[in-house]
Amino acid sequence: MTRYARHLQDVTINNPFPGLPRLEALIGRKIVSRIGSNESMAIEQHTVSRLWGDALYELARLYPDPYATAVRERAATLNGVTAANVVVDAGADSLIALFLRTRVSPGDVVVCTAGSYPTFRYFAEGVGARIVEVPYAETEGVLHNDLPALARAAREHDAALLYLANPDNPTGTFHRADAIDTLQSQLPADCLLLLDEAYIDFCAEGERQGVLPNTARLRTLSKAHGLAGLRVGYAIAPEEWIAKADQIRTQFAVSSVAQAAATAALNDPDCSARLIADTLQLRDQLASALLQRGLQILPSHTNFVAIVYPDAATALAKQKTLLSQGVAVHRPPHPSMQHVLRVTAHPDALQATVLAALCQA
Ligand SMILES: Cc1ncc(COP(=O)(O)O)c(C=O)c1O
Repeated sequence: MTRYARHLQDVTINNPFPGLPRLEALIGRKIVSRIGSNESMAIEQHTVSRLWGDALYELARLYPDPYATAVRERAATLNGVTAANVVVDAGADSLIALFLRTRVSPGDVVVCTAGSYPTFRYFAEGVGARIVEVPYAETEGVLHNDLPALARAAREHDAALLYLANPDNPTGTFHRADAIDTLQSQLPADCLLLLDEAYIDFCAEGERQGVLPNTARLRTLSKAHGLAGLRVGYAIAPEEWIAKADQIRTQFAVSSVAQAAATAALNDPDCSARLIADTLQLRDQLASALLQRGLQILPSHTNFVAIVYPDAATALAKQKTLLSQGVAVHRPPHPSMQHVLRVTAHPDALQATVLAALCQA
């Protein structure tokens, strides 16, 4: 039996506002007059309409579909699953929080890599989890998630959930499908593998269809679809988990604008293909420029490059120099990763002043 957070184990929570698309499906006809939702009437010359046009105003004025049906269906088709295997929320971040809330009770152990994507830890603290961190492994100078050690920690602590970003942030490194399958097979039977694939679209070898056993795969529209400000992501998971997650999800968190844009973006693969190709080209240019200047970088499968400095003080000094020029690069907050700077593959990163500041002694 699936292990849910204790207070959710044997209950079904009903959404009081399942939305008009569900009502239409129930009664078998279109709703032509929505006078039950307490939305505002349309007015002439609304500020949003003047600034961004009537189409955006109309989306902004009305409550969204709480189940983001169009996004679910499109995401399902793209990933070779059914819509019942997909849940949409306000970005991969919200999905991390959602699966933690669904599966973890206060005091339960969650396992992650020390210094990996810190939002996981932030949300895990928020549900009262006990967090067990496993250090990165280092192979020939390359930091990567230590999959056998993560599995060991999950077994040793009977973890409710193991979080893995693949490709990883901030290292940018990636584990292939067979390694992920081995990791999953080594976890306790009721431990959820929360597999954060925010960067998978940048990683040709990452392409993989379907639902993975005991795993929730997280995807985002923020990276390869260029919609970070709109906040849309989705998870692919076993149907039963999706149904449970839907019971506690903030049902209107993904706005009508975000849903419309996400559906359009998922329907336009050429657009994301161009964005990915341009990003990869910039990333390779950035990596070469940094290598030429004698910096140590990690092999990236993402839209950023991680630079490894000899120590935290050096990385901090570079970051401060750049900040004094109004340039923000990221230094991971975790004590074990403060010697790293993470630079996004963006034309600004290739400016001579930025490259100079990153490598000056
Ligand atoms: C590993 C990882 N997961 C999730 C996210 C957040 O994605 P979203 O914008 O969909 O919340 C990021 C953003 O940087 C990330 O690096």
